[in-house]
Amino acid sequence: MSIKTDFLIIGSGIAGLSYALKVAPYGKVCMITKADEDESNTKYAQGGIAAVMYHPDSYEKHIKDTLIAGDGICDEDVVRMVITESNKRINELIAWGANFDKTETGEYDLAREGGHSEHRILHHKDNTGFEIERALLAAVHKHPNIKILDHHFAIDILTQHHLGIEVNSKTPNIECYGAYVLNLHTNEIETILAKATLMATGGAGNVYSTTTNPSIATGDGVAMIYRAKGRVEGMEFYQFHPTSLYNPGEKPSFLISEAVRGFGGILKTIDGKEFMQKYDARKSLAPRDIVARAIDNEMKIRGDDYVYLDCRHLNKNELIKHFPNIYQKCLNTGIDITKDYIPVVPAAHYMCGGIKVDKNGQSSIKYLYAVGECSSTGLHGANRLASNSLLEAAVYAHHAAMDSIEKIKPVNFCEKIPAWNAEGTHHPEEMVLLTQTLREVQSIMTYYVGIVRSDLRLQRAFDRLEILYKENETLYLKTTISPKLCELRNLINVAYIIIKHARNRKESRGLHYTVNYPKVDNNVQ
Ligand code: FAD
Ligand code: SIN
Repeated sequence: MSIKTDFLIIGSGIAGLSYALKVAPYGKVCMITKADEDESNTKYAQGGIAAVMYHPDSYEKHIKDTLIAGDGICDEDVVRMVITESNKRINELIAWGANFDKTETGEYDLAREGGHSEHRILHHKDNTGFEIERALLAAVHKHPNIKILDHHFAIDILTQHHLGIEVNSKTPNIECYGAYVLNLHTNEIETILAKATLMATGGAGNVYSTTTNPSIATGDGVAMIYRAKGRVEGMEFYQFHPTSLYNPGEKPSFLISEAVRGFGGILKTIDGKEFMQKYDARKSLAPRDIVARAIDNEMKIRGDDYVYLDCRHLNKNELIKHFPNIYQKCLNTGIDITKDYIPVVPAAHYMCGGIKVDKNGQSSIKYLYAVGECSSTGLHGANRLASNSLLEAAVYAHHAAMDSIEKIKPVNFCEKIPAWNAEGTHHPEEMVLLTQTLREVQSIMTYYVGIVRSDLRLQRAFDRLEILYKENETLYLKTTISPKLCELRNLINVAYIIIKHARNRKESRGLHYTVNYPKVDNNVQ
């Protein structure tokens, strides 16, 4: 079966939904998403969305904070563009129906998070992402030009390669014609032809054993673009959030928002002593790379499995009012955050690198845009500033929409793309081949390519991953396509790129810390 659409959107988080609403007046939109339509990283965002709202805050302060967190390699033009457009895009989210909390005087209630010099986080209690996802989906449902196909899994994008033309990373004009998509309702692989395709597939937290990301975050977009010979950059900068709830066996790990530290929560070792003063003058509110590394170090020195976040000194009613979900979740696991310490550990959280795009969200592949966590715009540099992710997605959805509306005008569908060929493939005999390989990938990444790296660990990771890559490619070619098989293949691709980029960066910067090159080296690109 083949579908034709002006705009194909892969992913239904903030990036895909905002782009859909912007392009829908100009053509037919087909949005595919691999699970339920609301399942996404977006839905779990807690702290909020960063924006400059009132004096004494200013764009210059937000720009400076973003550049400092990014540790010297943000693209300053991009930082300026995103931050100075923040209010316009946030007003759009509000117009589409998203609610952000206000104080009794009617002003927006702004929270503070690590690395921010001012209170500037718009939020909806401690479940901002859920509110944004709800509002955007409701707006999308009302638009007659937008069709959402849930439980549709994008396998690969379509390029000249599918017309039998050889494509490599030096091919000057790789073009995207749409995607092969597995319809999980029928188990058929459909060809979706599009004039413009948007990759909005989010992050890849599941490449590590412990992550705050839901199970959908398997780096599919980055892997698809990498296989199609598009440009991917900055993957060595995988952000670990300092404070996920220590609750062994729980997947995903539950996040204890950085806004809790912004509200006054203090990190302590399990003997009740503060330690962040040893690492940074901003203490518990230093940028994430610094706090996560400090926690990792304290746990290693002391041999502890976690550290504590202490909120016991904070106003009880205000704490519960601001963080009702965190309060309830902890209570369900036997922790009353108003009276007890909260045990926390770092967990893989956010992919700062990704598909390289220009200021319009255009990737190195023609007619293929990337927006949101799967993209690398230059905003985050070596470490993302808290709550800049939802903002980046909203701003780039706008730019990508404006650009693609113009670009598709002269484009025709590529009718010569052949249907998917499943010849010679069979149902898997043993699922354990997939589940065990996944555990091995996650374990390699966690122990050798985590918060602290070394040449030896990265070499080991590379050697071991190569074996898994070869085994899995052989399996892939003879096995009937399923999401589990594709996700494993994608995670192996993503792990490979992270290791490759980490090995190339012979310095420590932002989220990439290696004991062999412990300092920033400005001669390294
Ligand atoms: P997502 O929201 O992850 O959406 C990706 C979509 O792509 C999903 O619908 C998924 O099903 C679909 N998809 C993936 N692969 C395929 C495929 N092969 N085929 C079809 N569909 C596919 N950021 C902030 O700025 N502020 C915060 O407060 C904040 N809190 C966070 C809290 C948590 C617990 C987490 C996990 C993240 C948080 N972040 C926060 C980060 C932020 O939520 C994400 O970076 C952002 O929501 C990503 O949006 P997105 O649209 O790019 O991707
Ligand atoms: C949080 O609430 O701590 C997450 C914020 C973010 O990832 O930007």
